[in-house]
Order: sequence, then structure tokens, then C-alpha cells
Amino acid sequence: MADDVKFKVSIDGIPVEVAPGTTILNAARQIGGDIVPPAMCYYSKLEGSGGKCRTCLVKVSKGSEKDPRPMPKLVASCRTTVMDGMEVLNITSPEVVEARKGVVEILLLNHPLDCPICDQAGECKLQDLGYEHGSAATRYEFERRTFEKIDIGDKIQLHMTRCILCYRCVYTADQITNQRVHGVLGRGDASEISTYIEKAIDNDFSGNIIDVCPVGALTDKTFRFKNRVWFTKPVDAHRDCPTCSGKVTLWYKGEEVLRVTARKDVYGEVEEFICNTCRFDKKATVDWVIDGPRHIENTSVISANHYELPAPPPVIKKNLRLQEANKEQLERAVKL
Ligand code: SF4
Ligand code: FES
Repeated sequence: MADDVKFKVSIDGIPVEVAPGTTILNAARQIGGDIVPPAMCYYSKLEGSGGKCRTCLVKVSKGSEKDPRPMPKLVASCRTTVMDGMEVLNITSPEVVEARKGVVEILLLNHPLDCPICDQAGECKLQDLGYEHGSAATRYEFERRTFEKIDIGDKIQLHMTRCILCYRCVYTADQITNQRVHGVLGRGDASEISTYIEKAIDNDFSGNIIDVCPVGALTDKTFRFKNRVWFTKPVDAHRDCPTCSGKVTLWYKGEEVLRVTARKDVYGEVEEFICNTCRFDKKATVDWVIDGPRHIENTSVISANHYELPAPPPVIKKNLRLQEANKEQLERAVKL
């Protein structure tokens, strides 16, 4: 197919032209805003990611120009490629909003609601989804999964109870380090992230598994319990690093750098992976050249007091049924 061929797609009534082979999720990302499906396991920088969590479900109401039949079931937008003339519904479909609510309920079956003491609070995708779609009570009556604590080294803390088995950390270790020593052991409800014989993860780039984890299952021991992220000030900085790009975000409390992370884009994905020296060993301002304040998205409490309000597509505002399905999201779009 010629390089300049583009497929016309519409997502929540908004048209976009994308290259053949683009997934629905990435087509939505080209439009941007609230119509982009959430993604807990897909990560554009990691080959093979996606298809695990089902938070990105969408409805294909028209398959293509040639075959306009709708797809019979909701599909994972991170794994479904677009066809020419395809019409997709995300937040304009009450069915999708309802299904996503169910997915969140399943993800929360075994995930503890320990946000008040979890270091990921404020930058946790599951917390955001729980806030948008979660129910106040659980219907789950069985015993929850619990795990013995596993020591995976002096810099990274694993809390298996919080893991949603998205596999991002496994792909990260596989694809950007030269020796993966952890993975998913066991199957079904016995699956867990573990290092074999509790071998510490020790590699120049191992710290990146903290950044890719969408929940608080992998956290930075050098930052643990030091502060809530929304009390810290993110600042972009760089250094001349022989191992990585040296482009990071420093998280300040007063004049102290409490933690160092990779810079993340609007979808919470790291822009460039960073090495452990930058992440764990360079915690003084003199180590860095400061670039300026980090822009934080409005979905994060870190941006409290300088919100950019979400802007639901006009198509929702005109339709009472869609307004009802998106009630919670619309309420978030109204200033207190
Ligand atoms: S530890 Fe985090 S990144 Fe790894 S599979 Fe679990 S949730 Fe995903
Ligand atoms: S982001 Fe698509 S299934 Fe997880």
C-alpha cells in the first residue's frame, strides 16, 4: 500500500485520517482529549504491550466503508486496527461507559484501596479510573489475594497486592535491560510478578519498571513515604549522562529533590527511559541543569489549583442519553 494512503475514521463523531495499521487507540490519541480511551497495559514504547486489561474497550458501530456492519462485541482499542470508514464510539456510547465500569470493578477485586498510604496516589491510572467509574461498594465476597513480601533489591519496592498484571514491567525489563530477572510466575489467580529465587533486580535501567507501573505495585524505595506527590514541585532538568539521555523530572519539596523520574507524556508514558544513576544517585540540584517547571495534566491532583478543565466533545452535550451515561465525567468538567 502506498505510503500516503490514509484511512478515514471517526471516533465519537470526530473525524481523523490515519495511516493503515494504526490502532483505534492511537487514532484517538491523534485527536486527543477526553475521547482517548484509557490504557492500563498498552505502552507505545513497549513491543507486544496491550490486550491485557480491557480498560480501552470501545464500540465499533461501523466496521468500514466496504463492510459497514458493526462489530458484534466491544473491542480492545489498543489491539484493533482501523479500517477505512470505520466509526468508533467511546465516551459517547453508554454501553462502553457501562462496560468500563465493570472492568474497573474487576481490576479492583483484588486491588486494595490503600490510596491514602500508597506512594502512587496522585499519579495512579487505576485511582483515576476508580474515581471516574468505580462503585462505592464492592460485590466481591471471597477472600482476596494476599502475598508474602518479596525483596527485589534496595531501590525498588514490590507490592504484589497492588499489581494488576499488566506486564508492562516485564516488557520493560525484557526490552531495555540486557538481563531480565523477573516475570509473571504462575497462572490464573495464582499469577504474580516475581524474581526467581528472590533475586534482586540489579541493572542500569531497572528503575524504569517503577515509571511504567500504572499502579503502586512497584515504587521507589528512596522516595517511599517521604511525601505526597501533590505537595512536591516537578521541574524538568537534564545532565550530561554517559548512560542515558539524562533528561528527567526532579520532584522538589522546598529545596530538596525528593525523587527523580523520567519525563512522562500526556498519556503517562515515559518520553525517554533513564538510568539508575540519574534516578537514584543524583538528588542534588548541583547535579542538574534546570530546564523549567514540568507541565502536569489536569487529570492529576498534582496540578491542583491550576486545572485545565476537561472538554467533553460537543456531541455529548447535545444528547440527553449520552449526558446521562457520561454524568460523572461531565460533572468533573464543571468548576467547583
Ligand atoms: S508490577 Fe506494575 S507494571 Fe508490573 S505487571 Fe504489576 S501492575 Fe503491571
Ligand atoms: S490498554 Fe488495551 S487492553 Fe489494556
